[in-house]
Amino acid sequence: MHYFLCKTTQWLGPLKSELVETFGPQQIHAFPKLPLLAINSDIELEDNFVAFSTVALPHAQLLAEDSISNQAKQIEELILSKLEANQTINLDVFSMTYKFGVLEKGRSEIIKEKLMKGLRAKKLFPAKKKKNMELAIVQVMVLGDRSIAVSVLNSDEAIKYRTYLSPFVGGFNNVEDNKKAPSRAFKKIVEAQLIMGRKTKEGETFVDLGACPGGWSYIGRQQGANIIALDRSPLREDLMIDEKVEFKKADAFKFVTDEQIEWVVSDIICLPPRIMELIQTWVVSKKCQNFVFTIKFQGEADYPILKEFKELARSLDYKVILKQLNANKNEVTIMGWLDS
Ligand SMILES: C[S@@+](CC[C@H](N)C(=O)[O-])C[C@H]1O[C@@H](n2cnc3c(N)ncnc32)[C@H](O)[C@@H]1O
Repeated sequence: MHYFLCKTTQWLGPLKSELVETFGPQQIHAFPKLPLLAINSDIELEDNFVAFSTVALPHAQLLAEDSISNQAKQIEELILSKLEANQTINLDVFSMTYKFGVLEKGRSEIIKEKLMKGLRAKKLFPAKKKKNMELAIVQVMVLGDRSIAVSVLNSDEAIKYRTYLSPFVGGFNNVEDNKKAPSRAFKKIVEAQLIMGRKTKEGETFVDLGACPGGWSYIGRQQGANIIALDRSPLREDLMIDEKVEFKKADAFKFVTDEQIEWVVSDIICLPPRIMELIQTWVVSKKCQNFVFTIKFQGEADYPILKEFKELARSLDYKVILKQLNANKNEVTIMGWLDS
């Protein structure tokens, strides 16, 4: 099965519709009270996107309830049957609980300890921190009935399924609050950059479309970027007087430049087709190296437009990720980078 997790059970409806829309009518398995759906693993995921899923466990096998030792042994066998020795791997073990959502304690913690020991002995080395999303990835999800879904992807598959995967265990992440940021929206760009595994480098240009009050520009500045911020309303005072921030009181959709820009980001409140315009302006023309655009929905009636975003994404020369961030409300985020 391919398992798809979403942010909360509130998103099961949109996720289910999206799975049908994307992969055609088929049986979708639900799990009572869990933000989780599954489809048959004959379905090809490559070259597609599931925006309402925070993380997926592609080609997962289901292990029946058993003792922890037996289950750990079976998981280890599955991993060893698929991955060659002498490599570092990402290893995520979590329980999917009705009450707490993704939990890395209890049964999953014990299983992880056993796996770490067993795998190291076989020369497979779980990475201490998941930074490199191009490594092989093993995801182990303990379900409420103590059955376990195990997805093992080698490095080629991890690259192929990049949009479905997450650097966060079980897809769950809560960017720490930062009282100094001008708005809580800063969490979105932080989370998007973690997912992309890329940050702004010192001296790069960061074009922030729809920037007020400045949460994203603030993060860009923290990372040493030069900011060009566009909005009809000004940014917070400290950003307005920062000499590395150029504020333009203008319509962000009309902004053009001949320069090649490292980062173009948008959190503009607008209808989804306008974000397609931004993709045409900046991404199709390859005017930027990295982009992060939120796609905001007014209601469920807007969701089918995701199909058009997916088609467009497939045509780009960029590595593209389309997913709902933990920090997204009724929106998803499309992000990408030029794969040079
Ligand atoms: C959600 S807020 C952005 C929050 C910002 N990312 C932050 O971290 O503080 C959206 C902004 O888009 C701006 N906006 C909407 N339409 C715009 C347009 N056509 N041009 C420029 N800004 C626009 C609004 O004025 C608003 O400030």
